[in-house]
Amino acid sequence: MVKGGKTVSSPALQFKITPNANPLPEAERLKAFEHLGFGTLFSDHMALIRWSADRGWHSAEITARAPFSIDPASAVLHYAQEIFEGLKAYHAADGRTVLFRPEENARRFNASARRLAMPELPEQDFLAAVENLVRTDAKWIPDGEGSLYVRPFMFANEAFLGVRPAKEYIFCVICSAVGPYFKGGEKPITIWVSEGYTRAAIGGTGATKCGGNYAGSLVAQAEAYANGCDQVVFLDAAERRSVEELGGMNVFFVMTDGTIVTPPVAGTILPGITRKSLIQLAREDGMTVEERHYTFAEWQADAVSGKLKEAFACGTAAVVACIGAVKHNGGEFRIGDGQTGPVTTRLRTALVDIQRGKTADRHGWVRVIDGI
Ligand SMILES: Cc1ncc(COP(=O)(O)O)c(C=O)c1O
Repeated sequence: MVKGGKTVSSPALQFKITPNANPLPEAERLKAFEHLGFGTLFSDHMALIRWSADRGWHSAEITARAPFSIDPASAVLHYAQEIFEGLKAYHAADGRTVLFRPEENARRFNASARRLAMPELPEQDFLAAVENLVRTDAKWIPDGEGSLYVRPFMFANEAFLGVRPAKEYIFCVICSAVGPYFKGGEKPITIWVSEGYTRAAIGGTGATKCGGNYAGSLVAQAEAYANGCDQVVFLDAAERRSVEELGGMNVFFVMTDGTIVTPPVAGTILPGITRKSLIQLAREDGMTVEERHYTFAEWQADAVSGKLKEAFACGTAAVVACIGAVKHNGGEFRIGDGQTGPVTTRLRTALVDIQRGKTADRHGWVRVIDGI
């Protein structure tokens, strides 16, 4: 229930499940699994929950994935009141179907909702929507290296052109069977430093997963592609000195003495769940992790002097990707020998082994979806 814009505890929503009458035939699905990319192959169903100012959250269902019919005046089309999340479902080594820290996604979703003046969805309902959908579309989870990328999102759906928080929203979850995020698979990536465009300012929406942050980053991402790079990295908006994050990933630097440096979550970067997990794993492994500002000038100097041994980007989609080289307006430099280093490999393996159920889940990060 929502009272005065605040969520208070409510009984869990019951989902009405209506199977898709025309699912993709199995042969076609398995054929598509042979060439998995990222974000193009969608499962048969979606989860939906509606919100209105007078009824709160209602009409929860799992239904055939289908286009929305929305009014041309729908608020999201004009003022971009939209947020989303991203997490993955895997087949674990022992055959169970698992999610990695979905409670963190539910929490971050509500942090985004608060910042975008949208209603919070009780965590239990966020998790139930994800689990019911994954259970319904379990055959869409590829075996082997692949996974099912789960995309919860919410948008303002009131037909109204005034500028104020909308009074109607749709929460939806869709799934996509995915392989590697980068075309080159696990090859080291090259990063473009955006010196002209910034991503987020203090007091803005940088710490949230709202679509607008990504719309604003696309021109810089296009600049990265035009310069032969895989991804863009942004500097802080105030001084254009400190490294912040990539368009869709957090960034880590590994020094020769084993110290790891990563920019702090102080309002302008997304508090990544992969980032948080890797920091914990590294510290438990005896490494020193400094969450501090790291300038582009330091990055260049450390790469050239050899003080910087490895750098990597991390996020749900790509997991951990080694950064082999960096390009910018003034030139380019390599990090270490340009290949994936031992610390990057160790942390990646430690994380993936937990996610895939190959090692004990000491932290309680893995959530099993029962009934599959
Ligand atoms: C801007 C940005 N930074 C960082 C991340 C990494 O976050 P997570 O590890 O929770 O996927 C993402 C991906 O969600 C992102 O979009």
